[in-house]
Amino acid sequence: MPFEYRLTAAPMAGISSRVYRDIVRAHGADLAYGEMVSAQALVYQNRKTLELLDITDEQAPRLVQLFGAVPEHVAEAAAIVAELGAQYIDINMGCPVPKVVKNNEGSALLRQPELAERLVKAAATAGLPVTVKMRAGWDGGRVNAVEFAQRMEQAGAAWLALHARTREQFYQGRADWRLIAAVKRAVAIPLIGNGDIFQAGDALAMLEQTGCDGVMVGRGMLGNPWLFADIRAALAGQQPPGRPAPQIIIAQALAHLKEQIQRSEHWLVRREGEDSAAVRALAEKLAVQSLRHHLGWYIKGLRGSADLRRRLNTLTGYAQIKALFAAYLRDGSAAVEDGGSSKP
Ligand SMILES: Cc1cc2nc3c(=O)[nH]c(=O)nc-3n(C[C@H](O)[C@H](O)[C@H](O)COP(=O)(O)O)c2cc1C
Repeated sequence: MPFEYRLTAAPMAGISSRVYRDIVRAHGADLAYGEMVSAQALVYQNRKTLELLDITDEQAPRLVQLFGAVPEHVAEAAAIVAELGAQYIDINMGCPVPKVVKNNEGSALLRQPELAERLVKAAATAGLPVTVKMRAGWDGGRVNAVEFAQRMEQAGAAWLALHARTREQFYQGRADWRLIAAVKRAVAIPLIGNGDIFQAGDALAMLEQTGCDGVMVGRGMLGNPWLFADIRAALAGQQPPGRPAPQIIIAQALAHLKEQIQRSEHWLVRREGEDSAAVRALAEKLAVQSLRHHLGWYIKGLRGSADLRRRLNTLTGYAQIKALFAAYLRDGSAAVEDGGSSKP
């Protein structure tokens, strides 16, 4: 049976929130990974971590990515997220950030396959399929993706996602898709390829060159959920529709902001135990702050976007932002700049 998640949205800390997961699914992603959450923080019932998860009532399929290095924490965290409605548990074995790696978490696990294997088995005790998102290896001299992937398969992983860069590369250089092909040949479980998909043609090329079962889009989806529709079209042999008109981009940015404000209100009202105008105003302010990057990405490539972004960054409320966008569109300055579009 072909793998059902051909087109996935990558987990991205601070980006793949509940609201953005809903958006990319609506634009054609089969599966949207949740941003990484700490197994240890979940076990200690850190409230912010529950807010970060935000999976209650989320549309299926629901995948939670955990990071951790203590099997007992991972087992307990897996049970907690299973209870909350997760359907898949992914373990992060790729995060390169020093404060994660120094605790033996994230990409540090590439150097400790035995511990990595124990973590997969610990997560599986919650009864859900466990998946692994990994990198090519620790550094250029220690590229062990093939052996590591085989080991994860033996440990019981349901599928793997491979970001074909080493930890040492962080996000620099090019992802080495040849490794995706090598891992695909070496394991029987499905493999999702990841790294450097910025347009529909890249997704087709990765599938063709590596034989991977699905593709995962990370940075390419920033401000561009339409990339998923483009890839879907290309997979179906149709012409990708490309990035839409400025009016539609801006309407999407505003809808994103509105949804984010609603989620923010939901959680803040719960946290404060009070539903007042002051709490709602604070929720709005926090949501606007948290969405600044997204708003900047949406408008990238539109005419005058640098000036528009500068103005956006001074605003703290939905109504002001809506008015700024309306004025921008009205002034007729909204045409896409030459070369600014990510149309394939
Ligand atoms: C800002 C940022 C946050 C990320 N957060 C996560 C994360 O929480 N978990 C994870 O496994 N990978 C994370 N990644 C890595 C991406 O999921 C993906 O593997 C990487 O960006 C390569 O794909 P791309 O070339 O399509 O961007 C993050 C990457 C970036 C740039």
